[in-house]
Amino acid sequence: MQLHAYSTYDELSKQTAGLVADYIRQKPDALVCFASGHTPIGVFRWLVDDVKAGRLDISRCTFIGLDEWGGMNGSHEGSCRHMIDQDFFLPLDIPQQQILFFDGTSNDLQAECARINEFISASGGLDIMLVGIGLNGHLGMNEPGTPFGTYAHVSELAEDTKKVGQKYFPGETALSIGVTLGLAHFREAKLPILMASGEKKAGIVRKLLASEATELLPASIVHLAPQAVVMVDRQAYSTDS
Ligand code: PGA
Repeated sequence: MQLHAYSTYDELSKQTAGLVADYIRQKPDALVCFASGHTPIGVFRWLVDDVKAGRLDISRCTFIGLDEWGGMNGSHEGSCRHMIDQDFFLPLDIPQQQILFFDGTSNDLQAECARINEFISASGGLDIMLVGIGLNGHLGMNEPGTPFGTYAHVSELAEDTKKVGQKYFPGETALSIGVTLGLAHFREAKLPILMASGEKKAGIVRKLLASEATELLPASIVHLAPQAVVMVDRQAYSTDS
């Protein structure tokens, strides 16, 4: 695992977008998984700029969503799909055929997981997997205690996740389960990137960096992936206290 720290969120976002863009330039038909959430918004901004300015061609990439809330799809404001639609897919007018996303409204979420797992394995695995870290150490919706060997699965959300997740929605929203790519996907990705920004994340980032790989802290799978890159800004990487 490599660690890179930058002075501002904008610089962190620019450098992370640079990693993604450089990979795609080498492999234009890359299979790319993006997280939703607040952390990667700056990365999307830089990538949208690059594509619009003709510095990056993503027309042969396939994009996979990291996770989705149970009962939701892109029509729900605050859903994972809705967020990535707003920040990346719609501004670039990315065709539906290039997008693979969990449908959280499916009445067979296990089948949704199987569909996504099969696509990834038939494609030879993920190229890029860009994720954030939850305040409880989760990665995607892989909550503390999730086995490292897991692929896409239905997750019972941790209480912390149900509370913190309210920030994405216009009003109080009942959250109970989710569907998510697994920790094994991260470990096996050619370029797994874990990104963290802001003072709020300093505690969990400190814990992550001090910890060995343990299933109690799902994001600590970074320690089992020598090719993983941890990208942080100064606020999230405080050595104080
Ligand atoms: P955030 O979410 O990017 O909105 O902080 C990260 C997460 O909970 O995984």
